[in-house]
Amino acid sequence: MKHFISISDVGDPEPLAEEALMMKSNPEKWRNFAAGKSICLIFFNPSLRTRLSSIRAAEILGMTVTVFNVGKDGWQLELEDGTVMDKGKAEHIKEAAGVISAYFDLIGVRSFADLKNRDKDYRDAMISGFVNYSSVPIVSLESTTLHPLQSLADLATIREFAVKKRPKVVLSWTPHPRALPQAVANSFSQWMMNSDVEFVVTHPKGLELDPGLTGKPTVEYNRKSAFEGADFVYAKNWSTFEPYGEIASHPDWIIDEKIMAHTNDAGFMHCLPVRRNVVVSDSVLDSPSSLIIPQATNRIWSAATVFKNLLS
Ligand code: CP
Repeated sequence: MKHFISISDVGDPEPLAEEALMMKSNPEKWRNFAAGKSICLIFFNPSLRTRLSSIRAAEILGMTVTVFNVGKDGWQLELEDGTVMDKGKAEHIKEAAGVISAYFDLIGVRSFADLKNRDKDYRDAMISGFVNYSSVPIVSLESTTLHPLQSLADLATIREFAVKKRPKVVLSWTPHPRALPQAVANSFSQWMMNSDVEFVVTHPKGLELDPGLTGKPTVEYNRKSAFEGADFVYAKNWSTFEPYGEIASHPDWIIDEKIMAHTNDAGFMHCLPVRRNVVVSDSVLDSPSSLIIPQATNRIWSAATVFKNLLS
């Protein structure tokens, strides 16, 4: 694995999820695996889990960690080639990526979609820029279109809690008061489509995702039918792909006990942060079926597995 940006860097995701669970089961074995190595975690957007789990993963491997909050501490980066840089942006990504990769062994980058221009967002120019102009491996800490560290933790969580070899996994759109990117849903779909699961996506009409990224999963518009017999329900909001970046209002798509009753006592999953009683009811989130804390815990082992592989 040269970089960790999308499923195409991984191929078969199942062995990587197995490796994450293997590292989790014996953390002592990996202490100091990467002693003397360094990572720079670059954030253009806020984060709790990705930031802290990546720090913990790097510390467990014995790495030194630098967190760089570009929005607050860095120069604004120009991403376009050939631009006359006479406006607000002081530094080009060519120099920034070249310099940072001269200082560190690994670079993680988080850069969200701004949901204004689909073509621009789906070019993923920040991550591509770091990949093109850095001399070390790049780890996506969530790009404009994908969130692979989250997806690896999600698959590991499914394997950790599944009681059958080929569980039914349902990705369900949920309401949200703000327009959110499609990255988590795109990425989860990519990973599920390449895993040994029965995968169904359910959402109101008009919330179709980019088939080029999701791998064309089965879409069931009838939510009750989709939930029938599900072993895992993954809740996530996303804004519209076409027209781009609009909020859809379907408050009845909240996940509550009534809709969960159609499942096979499914584990409830969400990447967090989650808006209680908008996305999911307290009764589901606080129930024994909720896997949100183990899922977030697995973010450490997802990051540790990826850092280890990129440094091996
Ligand atoms: N799930 C996730 O990526 O959380 P953060 O945005 O807090 O990093």
